[in-house]
Amino acid sequence: EPATPPGPLKDTSAKLVNDKAHPWKPLAPGDIRGPCPGLNTLASHGWLPRNGIASPAQIVEAVQEGFNMENSLAFFVTYGAHLVDGNLLTDKLSIGGKTSLTGPNPPAPAIVGGLNTHAVFEGDTSMTRADFFFGDNHDFNETLFDEMVKFTNKFGAGKYNLTVAGEFRWQRIQDSIATNPTMSFVSPRYYTAYAESVFPLNFFIDGRQTDGQLDMTVARGFFQNSRMPDDFFRANGTRSTEGFDDVVAAHPIQPGRNVDRVNNYVLDPTSADFSDSGFCLLYTNFVNQTVRSLYPTPTGALRSALNKNLDFFFRGMDGSGCTQIFPFGTD
Ligand code: HEM
Ligand code: MG
Repeated sequence: EPATPPGPLKDTSAKLVNDKAHPWKPLAPGDIRGPCPGLNTLASHGWLPRNGIASPAQIVEAVQEGFNMENSLAFFVTYGAHLVDGNLLTDKLSIGGKTSLTGPNPPAPAIVGGLNTHAVFEGDTSMTRADFFFGDNHDFNETLFDEMVKFTNKFGAGKYNLTVAGEFRWQRIQDSIATNPTMSFVSPRYYTAYAESVFPLNFFIDGRQTDGQLDMTVARGFFQNSRMPDDFFRANGTRSTEGFDDVVAAHPIQPGRNVDRVNNYVLDPTSADFSDSGFCLLYTNFVNQTVRSLYPTPTGALRSALNKNLDFFFRGMDGSGCTQIFPFGTD
């Protein structure tokens, strides 16, 4: 039985979240971290279980309380990830690699590999993590972070801001096209890449600060050390993907992938894009293709868990006008 996630926060004001009850602690043996600096940080401050294993309901609660993430985005991202990376039978997700700590698994072809799993949610052209092709898609990468700093110096007077976000996103895409023969930039990664480019602006800037400029020492704390600054206040009011359209508009590119070799980026017209119907296509393709390929013929408790999680996922599309689909029937 999946736990029921919380609704929107009642009090969305900025407040101290690196507080007495949530001190940063270094990793203990066996603690798991992964490709998401937001969830890593919540775990290292005890807003999530410090071992890096959490239920989706715990994740929704933590991203809201700790970072003021808006409720429907929290649902969408959390249940999207859980459906492909989590254990639907035990209601547990690893925020990093595959582990027995999430309990007995449903049968293959389900992966249950945690957030590190490549190509279902995690994808190429990340800012501070290398492409899967190069061997490690989840640990902090100093070379990439140094490049990010260089971009802040060139375009942001030393800070990460919306201009830098647009330029660095484009650079990461171009770099992957030129160096990764397996580079893929199709939905859902096509969407999450742009969203994640603005997350540092929306969530890593202190809630008392209003200039939209992220200090790079603060950024390193989150990206590398899973650590909030001392005295860190969460955003003032909920935040979502504000700035997304500006990052897209800086250097538009259609979804596609390198076919067989580097510098061979071929567009994929079957991928969801940013046209009007794009977001609904993301949803239907994700459910009908990605989720169904992992769970071709679920029965019993597994089918029931899938349906509940799919329902929470669709609630994350609140206001999108998309039509809900039921690949495993309705209970
Ligand atoms: C990246 C999951 C919430 C900030 C990622 C990635 C995953 C992920 C799987 C790796 C994608 C990739 O780069 O290939 C999730 C889930 C969340 C969540 C399931 C649940 C709501 C958050 C929050 C923040 C955040 C609340 C900020 C406070 C980021 C950033 C990246 C990222 C900045 C990009 C890292 C990079 O490109 O180097 N997330 N995330 N995420 N996430 Fe999260
Ligand atoms: Mg990645």
